[in-house]
Amino acid sequence: MEKLIEKYTAFFGAAPTVCSQAPGRLEILGNHTDYNQGFVLSCAVEQVTKVALRPVDGKHCKFKDFRDNSIREFDLDNIDTAIPKDWCNYIKGVIVELRKRGIEVGAFEAGMESTVPLSAGMSSSAALETAVGFSLREAFGIELAPADWARVGQGVENNYMGLKSGLLDQFSSIFGKKDSMILSDFRTVEVLRTAALPSGYSIVVINSMAKHNLVDSEYNVRRQDCESAAEKLAQIYPDVKTLRDVSMEQLAAAEPALGEREFRRALHVVGECTRVMKAVELLENNDVAGFGQLWFESHESSRVNFENSTPELDYLVELAKSVPGGLGARLSGGGFGGISIHLVKSEDAEEYAKRVQAGYKTRTGIEAEYIICAIGDGASSRKL
Ligand code: GLA
Repeated sequence: MEKLIEKYTAFFGAAPTVCSQAPGRLEILGNHTDYNQGFVLSCAVEQVTKVALRPVDGKHCKFKDFRDNSIREFDLDNIDTAIPKDWCNYIKGVIVELRKRGIEVGAFEAGMESTVPLSAGMSSSAALETAVGFSLREAFGIELAPADWARVGQGVENNYMGLKSGLLDQFSSIFGKKDSMILSDFRTVEVLRTAALPSGYSIVVINSMAKHNLVDSEYNVRRQDCESAAEKLAQIYPDVKTLRDVSMEQLAAAEPALGEREFRRALHVVGECTRVMKAVELLENNDVAGFGQLWFESHESSRVNFENSTPELDYLVELAKSVPGGLGARLSGGGFGGISIHLVKSEDAEEYAKRVQAGYKTRTGIEAEYIICAIGDGASSRKL
């Protein structure tokens, strides 16, 4: 943070008065379950977005990205619509969402740094929304419950960006716990418990380098499929509100009532909720091999049932089955490109990542970036 504060002060000619940081996240298991009010096992990572900020008089805001030295300026009276593909949307959107909750902020000058990979599936946008929100909270004394801050970020995606995403990304960025995965329930919107990664094992993130931009993807179409499947299932089982309420047995019995595609979408979501709960049980019994197997099953279901994988991600997961040291692998996050996550013995992690990288390069010609990921803490902010 000290470096960001120095750069900020040199650039703006005055020191920031508040700062915040928010991490990216990994979805460990529980793919596309959040907006179906289901369960997810996720974690925050050590890659974070940092924001430093100072309130100024008037209506004119400046936001500097110290990664590439770009700057955005906007007037608080003129932020109602998003500018296509501009990163500043994630900042203006937060202010718009706060206004909807009756909260006004004043003008500010702010700067950011980030180590969260962009457009990879590690929630760089949620990290930015959360870091901005938390800085504004400190600067303007905003009182909102942590889960409501996650809803502000989700509101930016849903309303400002038009992506009908769930709460997972912002929620994980806020509620993440160092060295632990969190099991979250997206009906009650709470962390049910934490689960440590078995000691001696690491998560290796391998980026397929195929940009994943969910706004332009079929994400919203998948959500619609899930909702229409849930509506049909509710006609058969009146207690069903979302796919979270459906058991595997109920789904199997109702197959003829659903379209073929809807059935596969529902099978993915119901299967993922089941896998999340099974994972927690396996972790309690220190069954790492079983836990890793669930990652492979999750990916297979993404590939076949939810169709949110890509040939590149499939290949990375295929490599995990042959490279020594790999216990499990899957796409993580929305899908349609971006990262895969691999469960690997820590002592093998570096060698494993290099071998997968080499195999991927031979087949695709693409240099996949990798990170041996440590699990970090949730977002924080403070006055300076
Ligand atoms: C994206 C969305 C999340 C969640 C995941 C898939 O990351 O932003 O809300 O739906 O995809 O689980």
